[in-house]
Amino acid sequence: MNKLSLLGVLFLLICGCSKEVTKKISVHNQWNDRPEMDIFIDSLMTEMTLEEKIGQTVLFASWWDITGPVSDNDFVDDAIQGKVGAVFNALTADFIYRMQKEVVEKSRLGIPLLFGYDVIHGYRTTFPTPFAMSASWDLDQIEKSCRVAAVEAAADGLNWTFAPMVDIARDPRWGRIAEGAGEDPYLGSLIAAAQVRGFQGTDLSDEATVLACAKHFAAYGAAQAGRDYHTVDISERVLRDVYLPPFKAACDAGVATYMTAFNELDGTPCSAHEHLLNDILKEQWGFDGFVVTDYTSIKEMVNHGSVADEKEAGEASMNAGVDMDMQSGIFMNHLKQSVEEGKVKEATVNEACRRILEMKYRLGLFEDPYRYCRPDEDKQSKIKSPEHFALAHEMARKSIVLLKNEDQLLPLNKEQLNSIALIGPMTDEQKQQLGAWHTTGQPETVTTILTAFKEKLGSKTKIYTAKGCDWEGDDRSGFAEALAAAKKAEVVVMCMGERENMGGEAASRVHIDIPLIQKELIKEVYKTGKPIVLLLHNGRPLTITWENEHLPAILECWHLGSMAGPAIADVVFGDYNPSGKLTATFPQHLGQVPIHYNMKNTGRPYNPKDHFTTRYQDCSNDPLYCFGYGLSYSSFEYSAVTLDTNTLTPDGKITASVKVTNTSNVDGEEVVQLYIRDLVGSVTRPVKELKGFQKVMIPANTAVDVSFEVSVEDLAFWRKDMSYGAEKGEFLLFIGTNSDVEESVKFELCTDADVEPYGIRK
Ligand code: BGC
Repeated sequence: MNKLSLLGVLFLLICGCSKEVTKKISVHNQWNDRPEMDIFIDSLMTEMTLEEKIGQTVLFASWWDITGPVSDNDFVDDAIQGKVGAVFNALTADFIYRMQKEVVEKSRLGIPLLFGYDVIHGYRTTFPTPFAMSASWDLDQIEKSCRVAAVEAAADGLNWTFAPMVDIARDPRWGRIAEGAGEDPYLGSLIAAAQVRGFQGTDLSDEATVLACAKHFAAYGAAQAGRDYHTVDISERVLRDVYLPPFKAACDAGVATYMTAFNELDGTPCSAHEHLLNDILKEQWGFDGFVVTDYTSIKEMVNHGSVADEKEAGEASMNAGVDMDMQSGIFMNHLKQSVEEGKVKEATVNEACRRILEMKYRLGLFEDPYRYCRPDEDKQSKIKSPEHFALAHEMARKSIVLLKNEDQLLPLNKEQLNSIALIGPMTDEQKQQLGAWHTTGQPETVTTILTAFKEKLGSKTKIYTAKGCDWEGDDRSGFAEALAAAKKAEVVVMCMGERENMGGEAASRVHIDIPLIQKELIKEVYKTGKPIVLLLHNGRPLTITWENEHLPAILECWHLGSMAGPAIADVVFGDYNPSGKLTATFPQHLGQVPIHYNMKNTGRPYNPKDHFTTRYQDCSNDPLYCFGYGLSYSSFEYSAVTLDTNTLTPDGKITASVKVTNTSNVDGEEVVQLYIRDLVGSVTRPVKELKGFQKVMIPANTAVDVSFEVSVEDLAFWRKDMSYGAEKGEFLLFIGTNSDVEESVKFELCTDADVEPYGIRK
């Protein structure tokens, strides 16, 4: 039977009449309402040959120019033969429409393709990098930014994003720290769920949503020595306590797909990791979407040395729970033979194919293969709309972290400022503000710092500018101009840090300081004696110990995307009071890495009076800026914490309260943070763990009461016997402005309590 007529008949059989289709499909795209989807897919699969089922598991990148002819590409011919189920890196609705049409009309069964892309922090309207956004601790705003990205990407024909990256990262050498939410599993989990909600909405068949993809499963951020793709060897306990929670949170939020990681874990490459994929993800968590590999990672198993050849790699991968092969072509080339030889069960291929078809169904593609890509002016007009730029502006302001502000140098008073110097490679940069993995982001959408300062200051303030030097290298020829600019100005703003591609994939670095040439320039300008405001642009924590010691004001401005300039100008000139807080520790020195706030106490905790305690000879153990750190133009005071009871029962709760007073004359937002320490455990426990936070606006000279409820869920961990639960005993509870909070109150859990594991559905 011809494909379109087959799909049509199936729909008519299932839905009764075509008029009803739209309504019914959207009803049946709800996650839990399966029957009609199952009947449809069962019927479709009975028509499919083994090759066609394997075809659904094959994903290839489109390399054409967007105007390139469809028929020139091999894999479109393959797709027409039913050998390819999904495409990534194809861009524009028009182009995707043509490709979809070719495949739907010419292939035997007319099964529509999925179209994926790395829509990481915005599509055309670019938001701050994910790491920067995490510093806002603003889940609602993060969700909205993913929503905007989905609306724009979907308007341009895409229906699947390879985001969010939910890898916990404790090593700033690893460039991909820029793509995630930092070092903390609790915060990382909340952000992961917000991102999934943002991309997917509540109904996948809504044309303004895309499938999300939680990546990279798993523990990719734990690469040895922070070197990308490197070996990962961590305990099952650390895997479950630290690295898996954001993935589970994504699952609970209904994420449609997962991407495997490039790394091996405990000797097995993640793209063939049965324990991770089949056991934990699919069985224990009940994940019912599909798993795609990372780029050619099946093929790379031969290099890992876990299989002899590509065919074996494909078998290991499919048998471990992978459903779709990104770019290696191995499923396409070898899987049929593997099934014929009995190395892979046909049922396993059927299962993978079914999971992929289900997602196509849930997107509504069987009802209308062109629902995402049919050129639609109304949808297209949303791309780069003023509303989207307004959201990007708000997100950028919320992502900025004030690291230092001696003598309240900031905010600068624009009414009284006669002259200012703007120095550094980021001063008038568009492309670099887009940040790592900006993919479809367009430099011309970026308002630079210089442009925004000019707009903010008008003509009455003289702005002297000089690039001074490049991001790296040893060309000092611009120093003189920069020094001259500095000397003429009342205050100097230096826009320094990392180029966007110093973060992201394959961007690990052994120097995590401001690159040497820029540092030298900062030191030269410092010698002029002018007050310096340092604007830092970077994708990772940096070791800016010298700058912290010598410069009066430092603002962490990351790579903030399209609205970087206006957001920075708002903060520098006091039109916005910064409230961001770091989500990964900034070390004093690279030699301290890995360093994170939730470390263990050790048997010899540091004691300045005792030489034989855990420490370095040449550097203290303290970070430069701890997790959760960030200042404001307001000042906040915390009262002592009070508890309504000191004893927690397994089904009860404790309310912990604190009064936070804004002791300044400026309204300000504060992220009030709750940490807990379990003093004695069947296995050792971290010295502190984030268990709650609230972002509150506190008017000037006003106090607010902030309360948190604590229950056994907050005390649970993977115990010695690998069961999940809380153990009776004493706990310390801290509420403060960052993870360095010292004052605590004690409470007790009166008995052991099993808790539903975050990772296991009953
Ligand atoms: C990256 C993934 C990305 C994929 C497709 C890989 O190199 O690791 O994060 O989604 O490419 O572009």
